Amino acid sequence: MTATSVREGGPTLKGPLDFADSPLRVAERQPLMLGVFLDLQDRKLSNFPTSNSWKFDYNLEIVRKAEAAGFEIAFSRMQWLPKGGYDGEASLDAFIALGAMAAATSKILLISTIHVLYGPLHPLHLAKYGATLDHISKGRWGINIVTGHRAIEHQMFGWNRIEHDKRYEMAGELFDVVNSLWGETENVTYEGKVSPWKLENAWVTPKPQYGRPVLVNATGSPVGIDFAVKYSDLVFITSPAGADIQSALESLPEHIARIKEAAKAVGREIKVLINPIIVSRDTPEEAESYLQQIIDGMGEGVKEKRILARYDSDAHAWRGQNGQRKVGYNLGANVEVIGSPTQVVEQLSGLHKTGIDGVQLGFYDWQADFDHFLEKILPLLKEAGLRVD
Ligand SMILES: Cc1cc2nc3c(=O)[nH]c(=O)nc-3n(C[C@H](O)[C@H](O)[C@H](O)COP(=O)(O)O)c2cc1C
Repeated sequence: MTATSVREGGPTLKGPLDFADSPLRVAERQPLMLGVFLDLQDRKLSNFPTSNSWKFDYNLEIVRKAEAAGFEIAFSRMQWLPKGGYDGEASLDAFIALGAMAAATSKILLISTIHVLYGPLHPLHLAKYGATLDHISKGRWGINIVTGHRAIEHQMFGWNRIEHDKRYEMAGELFDVVNSLWGETENVTYEGKVSPWKLENAWVTPKPQYGRPVLVNATGSPVGIDFAVKYSDLVFITSPAGADIQSALESLPEHIARIKEAAKAVGREIKVLINPIIVSRDTPEEAESYLQQIIDGMGEGVKEKRILARYDSDAHAWRGQNGQRKVGYNLGANVEVIGSPTQVVEQLSGLHKTGIDGVQLGFYDWQADFDHFLEKILPLLKEAGLRVD
């Protein structure tokens, strides 16, 4: 059989949003998609005690609980840090861990954060691993495409950080090839133009069930948004004005409209996600007092330990947060939703009105706070029409 070369000009492959019955298409019928943003690594924002754990079983339990409650998405952050870089010592690989959850769940979408340039990871590896997880999950698995914004991570892999826009160019070439491997009906031969790999008569089966796995990227930069518009089904954004809810509600509509219009202009559809932390108790006063306990625990010991912020990053996503508006309490999320169940629903409803299609939720304590959300807040979201059965 003759080999096919990679098509210039990006993916021509159909994606999960092109299929009426794909898990992503089913998920996005919800007015506001709900997701969990897991920590497969030790994170310590405050000395105020939590039940949180990086362990697989702990996180699988969260995902199973989310799935049973009708949540659509599970996602995890992932970093490559040297000794002492995490708030504790341990961190699981999100690719492997979310992939493993495919066999232990049946409905929820599972998105693995993968640093696609490190190594470098060969496109044939990525396409084969992806096809395998797509098969195991029946089209529920996807990739959060991360190119790496911290110098220290690139150095860990033996090179200096690749320039910001070049990283997106390399990721674009990588996914042109990976998409070709997922979509082509003949062997693929290609030599990287901006990437240090080549393929000869490369072939991947099974083909993904809905064209390709779900693709996601998280960004705030123009070039990152261009990448999202071309390659991703979901884009994970920050509030351009910081995590304070009012600042977010003011600044998001324009930002989101720009992203969705850019996608429309090239005939694509893209769904927009953001990651709020929910700090809630039964009454506004109790929620405030809980927030205060968390803040009081952010003592010097914790600040010293949180050395993450000291690593050099060239990310644009958090640059607009210049303090002109109230920026938030530094709770480790891109929006802070604080208050009683009714107040939380008002704020989530406000986010939905800005154009947000889904929220990847985080909690200070993944046991007590997530249970509170499921018991007290989820029913109100249904009443408010943000969730449908
Ligand atoms: C909501 C959100 C989640 C992210 N999660 C990760 C992550 O888990 N690991 C990582 O290395 N980078 C993560 N990033 C960083 C992005 O992948 C990206 O490197 C960063 O936003 C810089 O890109 P930009 O300059 O296009 O914004 C995240 C960014 C956002 C906005």
